[in-house]
Amino acid sequence: MEFIKFLLLAVCAIICTQCNFPTVNALIGSEVRKVQPEEFPFLAAFRHVNLTDPHPTRNHICTGSLITRSHVLSAAQCIENRLISQTVIAHGSNSLVYCIEYRIQWWITYNQWSLYMNRPLEFVDNDVSVTKLWTPVRGEFHLAQLSTIPTTHAIDDHIVLVGWGVNNRRKISRKMLSSVAKVKSMNECQELIRQASGRVTVIRENLFCTHNSPYTLIKRGDFGGPVLYFNNIIGINKEIRPEVLNDYNRLKVNIHTNIDYYRDFITHALENNFLLV
Ligand SMILES: *[C@@H]1O[C@H](CO)[C@@H](O)[C@H](O)[C@H]1NC(C)=O
Repeated sequence: MEFIKFLLLAVCAIICTQCNFPTVNALIGSEVRKVQPEEFPFLAAFRHVNLTDPHPTRNHICTGSLITRSHVLSAAQCIENRLISQTVIAHGSNSLVYCIEYRIQWWITYNQWSLYMNRPLEFVDNDVSVTKLWTPVRGEFHLAQLSTIPTTHAIDDHIVLVGWGVNNRRKISRKMLSSVAKVKSMNECQELIRQASGRVTVIRENLFCTHNSPYTLIKRGDFGGPVLYFNNIIGINKEIRPEVLNDYNRLKVNIHTNIDYYRDFITHALENNFLLV
């Protein structure tokens, strides 16, 4: 394996704030359910380290997926403005309370990788990251697989969303939650957003959206978590649009990062070391 030392500007780490207090708030909707034990064993959580208040749900930041025993695929928003020393990966249980914590060796976002690779960015907002652990995750379980099917082939099909966060009663769930939604075409997606907000939003090929009737919505806490299509990862939870309006508006859509667009980045991040110097 080729070892590459990547000098991420130390400045970044220095100015990164320590005050990223998460407001956990996740999957809501009529079809949200608690998952069965062992159902999504590759799911992992990003957790803020707070020694004076080691509260598993209060310190929950984001969801992610183990794509090797040492690599977590997630969103860029989960690690931006954070310090590695104040973040751990929690894994090993459906309940955040019983997860085991793992220390992080390095992490990299798509934008940092593109800079390093000297690749011009096609889009400004690339919400995907890979996080490497110091030690492989223990236990017998199956890892997450990346889907090879493009999202355009999944239009109108059901996908599964999984994550940790607030349930329908708006209380933080210690248990992993899951729900379903359908993949929408770019046009349908843009039309739903336009109807809801009166504004035109262009969804490009690095993103896709899902929708459920009456609704299934992702929230902070779910972000970084997988969109599963036939049990394989097709996307990463990013945000809801439009951001205004109440939670239960039936026109709101979930926006996800499209794995297919970021395949080179993910593959390269698994094969190399990006050590924070
Ligand atoms: C830890 O949690 C306490 C209580 O919620 C808070 O006052 C403090 O600022 C937190 N510290 C860090 C480093 O997050």
